[in-house]
Amino acid sequence: MKLLEDRILEDGIVLPGNVLKVNQFLNHQIDPELMYAIGKEFARLYNEEKITKILTIEASGIAPAIMTGLILHVPVLFARKQKSVTMQNALFTAEVYSYTKKTKNRVAVDQKFLHKTDRVLIIDDFLANGQAVNGLLNICEQAQAEVVGVGIAIEKSFQDGARLIKDRGVRLESLARIASFDDNQVRFVGGKGL
Ligand code: G4P
Ligand code: NA
Ligand code: NA
Repeated sequence: MKLLEDRILEDGIVLPGNVLKVNQFLNHQIDPELMYAIGKEFARLYNEEKITKILTIEASGIAPAIMTGLILHVPVLFARKQKSVTMQNALFTAEVYSYTKKTKNRVAVDQKFLHKTDRVLIIDDFLANGQAVNGLLNICEQAQAEVVGVGIAIEKSFQDGARLIKDRGVRLESLARIASFDDNQVRFVGGKGL
């Protein structure tokens, strides 16, 4: 998606450890018009799939997810990382290991919001090692919901996540695919980059 790639080149900052900082428009300050364009693109890509629910994980997945849900006219459900006093019902949970933070998080979804009749589109802002998406796939499996696909705003294609998802037989659509950060420059899959 050219709009997103251009924005990454304009405002993204490559940090040590192969991390892309996009606090200007996605992970801290959010550009709602860009998020809306991202939502439209996911909606276009998955238009034929009769999606009934968007599933993401807090916090940064919510912005692109909610725009996709707005356009597809379906609810947006986000897995929670902290146990909340408002979550007293039965839960689907999954362990998510963060390679970047070296921590394990248990994420949870209330069972009443995910059913075996659901056709789910999983959305997230970043795909790195794929642990977050893997946890969401496990939650859908517990609910016996059908996962129609995964939509990612920014995929770091040199990490394991994309392959992991495809190995599970799940459709993956990433709007910007980063091949490398060599010399602190973003290079996209297919050659485009500064
Ligand atoms: P994984 O889920 O793909 O395995 O990712 P990993 O454990 O490596 O990353 C943990 C967190 O860092 C996730 O956010 C993920 O979205 C984010 N992340 C991974 N690579 C990058 C990157 O290059 N740039 C930025 N900005 N973020 C990255 P989180 O901390 O779980 O949640 P959130 O509250 O920020 O959404
Ligand atoms: Na995220
Ligand atoms: Na994040």
